Amino acid sequence: MDKAVSGFSKLSKEDKIKWIANRYFSEPEEAISLLKNYWNADKKLQKLHDEFIENTVTNFYLPLGIAPNFLINGKFYTVPMAIEESSVVAAASKAAKFWAERGGFKATVLNTEKIGQVHFIFKGETSKLEQFFNEKKKLFFEETEDLTKNMQKRGGGILDIVLNDKTDLLPDYYQLHATFETKDSMGANFINSCLEQFAKTLKRLAQENLDFNEDERNLQVVMSILSNYVPNCIVRAEVSCKVEELADKKNNPHEFAEKFVRAVQIAEVEPYRAVTHNKGIMNGIDAVVLATGNDFRAVEAGIHAYASKSGKYTSLSHAKIENGIFSFWIEIPLALGTVGGLTSLHPLVKFALEMLEKPTAKELMQIVAVAGLAQNFAALRSLTTTGIQEGHMKMHLGNIINQFEATDAERLLIINHFENNTVSHAAVVDYIQSLRKVNI
Ligand code: MEV
Repeated sequence: MDKAVSGFSKLSKEDKIKWIANRYFSEPEEAISLLKNYWNADKKLQKLHDEFIENTVTNFYLPLGIAPNFLINGKFYTVPMAIEESSVVAAASKAAKFWAERGGFKATVLNTEKIGQVHFIFKGETSKLEQFFNEKKKLFFEETEDLTKNMQKRGGGILDIVLNDKTDLLPDYYQLHATFETKDSMGANFINSCLEQFAKTLKRLAQENLDFNEDERNLQVVMSILSNYVPNCIVRAEVSCKVEELADKKNNPHEFAEKFVRAVQIAEVEPYRAVTHNKGIMNGIDAVVLATGNDFRAVEAGIHAYASKSGKYTSLSHAKIENGIFSFWIEIPLALGTVGGLTSLHPLVKFALEMLEKPTAKELMQIVAVAGLAQNFAALRSLTTTGIQEGHMKMHLGNIINQFEATDAERLLIINHFENNTVSHAAVVDYIQSLRKVNI
């Protein structure tokens, strides 16, 4: 039987690489040199990346693309996007330009509240726990003062702590549900530190409480952790214009607007479509979230939960035509930071934030929501007119050309040929083969 490796994390980086290469590759030297090719020549920079995570063996590149011309609340932004999928940056840029010529995007942060919970088991009378919590509540604030004083200086801190009785869901299950304002930081460390202190305070005060019996005194804290569901940390982004202004070379604006609204309505009522519709929105959101050093998994989890808040998964964006005006908007939860975490560590994140002119967290929420809306607009515009394959396959063609290491002369011939022929992987390979007259 295969054996687990022990002590892997203690090996040097070189030895980790050798271990992988010898165990999994028929040509170990090739595997080693591939990994090393992706090391940065600047040793300091490489060390920085090595230390972001454990067992780093090399860097994994994603392209950083730039989408210019985003007019948001009257100001132009050049938006950084880290993403591997072809067409996303091109689509964002196109949508940005389209709306810049029609008044731009409007974005508003509706609220910025973050959430954290201490989950615990209390085997006793709910009314006694409630009385205990109400009497001791202020101590939870006092005993976290060391943690909160800096955040308070910045205008943030703990907003409130409430006791929730969840025993209808799980026997003896209660929680301290706390709300926070974390200003320009995403606040995960701040919130989790406060919660762990709440847990200590809760356990100690319960132990000392003479009104509790032994079971009640021994309440059990199961865990203390922030929630990535932030339904009160919402940003709204929108565009609108007269239907006639939607006209372009190819489309009748009225037909286009109606078909577009219909496409959004389908995503509102049909979960299979809603998931793909929202995936298109996340193409824009994740790319900016990643480029600005934020946690895209947290954002993804929170946004999809929000899309299901009615009990049914639905579209994150909405559209209507009213009195001849076409409007298209999105409202999403976004817990983002522009200070702390990776924002001050990763040189490209610093670059991205500087290019966005050092936004506050609220401004970044607006930019990210707009990127999502723009992406959704671009996708629906293609889907309801030409279909998406036209644009996608053009980009795909480039990738296939690179894959087969086409010469400049071959590249020209291939591009010319596929101006008037449908691109598919097989068709491109066939054509390259016919050019080279050999099997590739
Ligand atoms: C592809 O990455 C995204 C789309 O499927 C989104 C959509 O269907 O709306 C084009």
